[in-house]
Amino acid sequence: MINVKILTGYPEMFPGGLAYSIIGKALKENIFTIETINLHDFGNDNRKSVDDEPFGGGPGMILRPDVVEKALLSLPNIKNSKSTKLYLTPSGSLLNQKKLGVLAKLDEIIILCGRFEGVDQRAIDILGFEEVSIGDYVLAGGEIAAQVLLEGCIRLIPGVLGHPESLLEESFSSNLLEYPQYTRPKVWEDSLGNKHDVPEVLTSGHHNNIKKWRLNKSVEKTKKIRPDLYIKKKQKQD
Ligand code: ADE
Repeated sequence: MINVKILTGYPEMFPGGLAYSIIGKALKENIFTIETINLHDFGNDNRKSVDDEPFGGGPGMILRPDVVEKALLSLPNIKNSKSTKLYLTPSGSLLNQKKLGVLAKLDEIIILCGRFEGVDQRAIDILGFEEVSIGDYVLAGGEIAAQVLLEGCIRLIPGVLGHPESLLEESFSSNLLEYPQYTRPKVWEDSLGNKHDVPEVLTSGHHNNIKKWRLNKSVEKTKKIRPDLYIKKKQKQD
């Protein structure tokens, strides 16, 4: 079981997408829990402001360190806790499948979601937040990024996936992209009247040939659209 605590200015964004499908089922079954802490409850002055202008000038507003600390200290037992604390930001280290596997084994994860131009660096350094990015692009805030991270992590907890064997073959566990998949109808006639058959080998019943075909397709696809991954795979083999 993972207890997730989320520090956010938009608590109503949770559980959001995490309430659906297999992740939603895991939430109902208490395989993980989500608690949100509203940063606005810890704002300063009578306007309850949580952000301020950046020192040195520049656009946007920065989340204040005192607000982040107060929100964090509102969590029970936080002083003795060794919980992993993540701050979701495009300037963090890139999230990958291996990191999700590490996170899926934790008992508690605390996630700080930034909005504005960012968070005062002292809050990150002094309070011990690890900066994590979900990709080389910029979102408007960390809430959706937190849901991406949690969805990827929670599906790895034993018992969450209906078919755990699908974890073995999926993209990234072997540095290869997944092979293409097909289902019924065997011959699909599209709206223009063109007919499209599925690759013959898949309906041959010849398991060894199917395995070989799938591996070939995975390699072909990875070389073409993720040459960086293919190089990584080669390096691991050598
Ligand atoms: N917040 C805004 N963009 C983000 C990203 N790419 N990853 C994590 N958090 C973010």
